[in-house]
Amino acid sequence: MKIYSPNVKIFDDDSDVDKYASSFVINQVGSKPYSVITLPTGSTPLGMYTLLSDAYSEGKISFRFSIFFNLDEYWPIKKSSPSSYYYYMNTNFFNKIDSPCSNRFIPNGEANDPNLESEKYNNLLDKYGESDLTVLGIGPGKTAHIGFNEVGSDYNSKTRYVLLSQETYNTNLKFFNKKEDMPIGAITQGISNILNSKKIILIAKGANKAWGINRVINGHIGTDAPASFLRYHPDVTFILDKDASEML
Ligand code: F6R
Repeated sequence: MKIYSPNVKIFDDDSDVDKYASSFVINQVGSKPYSVITLPTGSTPLGMYTLLSDAYSEGKISFRFSIFFNLDEYWPIKKSSPSSYYYYMNTNFFNKIDSPCSNRFIPNGEANDPNLESEKYNNLLDKYGESDLTVLGIGPGKTAHIGFNEVGSDYNSKTRYVLLSQETYNTNLKFFNKKEDMPIGAITQGISNILNSKKIILIAKGANKAWGINRVINGHIGTDAPASFLRYHPDVTFILDKDASEML
């Protein structure tokens, strides 16, 4: 399989990381209003969502026709839980823009059967075809995950129920009030769903991303660093702050 060198942009200031990342979404939706866009949650893209919501409030952009797919959702989790990705997307982005509910898709953390829900989500992704743009974060430390594709995930993986790695579990515990509330698994788009996007950007901030960023850009491609499969894609841009780039 052909291996590509990703574009790498490094900024001193986190706000410039956010600006650059949001410019990809704005340019995409500006040039094709009915774009299909895949989105992440987590701490990293919060600044980007603020800038995108601001651009909408200032009348610079409309998301009315865009189709949004999320990468993942914990399972099981109530949509009303402040720790769910459903809640996160609504409060940080969707409720602040003009996107109709019918154009936004997130795996259902309330589904009875996570395997069936994964299959349904995968069919929905297939129905809409490839994403025009996918925005990613990267997992902390040695996880190098994208979505919740943890170590061991293969490049042909599809949407499925997965168990979180211990490192992901420990890192994300801070997003839950009580340990008992945190699910041990999630529904995630697979690596093949992610690679089936015309363009991909990956945003990383902070020193706990530095090992993964270097491993993924300069190491071998393999299931022990799932984000390394991004090097099979011809149009990937890594958008990094200084700390995340310090081991390159
Ligand atoms: C979340 C997701 C994950 C996160 C990653 C980084 O939807 O897909 O891969 O992007 O765990 O999370 P933060 O940004 O909290 O460091």
